[in-house]
Amino acid sequence: MKTDTLISKLNWFYSLELNQVDLYNAQSKAFKGRYCGIVFERCAYIEQNHVENIGNKIKELGGKPTVLGDIISPIIGKVAGELISMTGLEDTLAINILIEQKAMKDYNELIEKLHQDKYGDKEMTKILQHNFVDEHLHTEWFRTKIIAIKQYEFTAKHFSARTEMHPKGQKNEAFYEDHYRATPKRTRLVKPRPIKTVKW
Ligand SMILES: [Fe+2]
Ligand SMILES: [Fe+2]
Repeated sequence: MKTDTLISKLNWFYSLELNQVDLYNAQSKAFKGRYCGIVFERCAYIEQNHVENIGNKIKELGGKPTVLGDIISPIIGKVAGELISMTGLEDTLAINILIEQKAMKDYNELIEKLHQDKYGDKEMTKILQHNFVDEHLHTEWFRTKIIAIKQYEFTAKHFSARTEMHPKGQKNEAFYEDHYRATPKRTRLVKPRPIKTVKW
């Protein structure tokens, strides 16, 4: 691969990583006081690391790290800035996964290309691989959190459906025995907290 081509590819990553720093910092503020807010803050720090390691490689190759503008909006098909204030956690995580997956796909393609070209700078490959692993870890945390939210909502919905069917004072012991195999006492024990008190 020609040096100019490699520099322009690295500049694309440089811009994407910078966009991600801004996005995660904004999300960290939007979800301040919640665990996910701390996670987004940490993600921003890691993406800043990527900005620096890619920027340094561009300079080593004789290029100048250049911001290509808004890279994220075309990936998600929406203006990234508008999403922050109006998006709930689940949608935020889904959007983040889209962006991380695009980064992973492109890192993977560049790593493959450098491998095919028998590119001499092993440190370059290592940096790209490590950045890829970080994006992979981000993706998996976001994915796991979406599953946890969905699972919680499913459980809450089914528990509240049971409560509505059998309001207090009208419990039918035989019905519980036959259909749920749990005594009313046991039902109280496993009933989850109301969903609005959960701080993901
Ligand atoms: Fe990154
Ligand atoms: Fe990432």
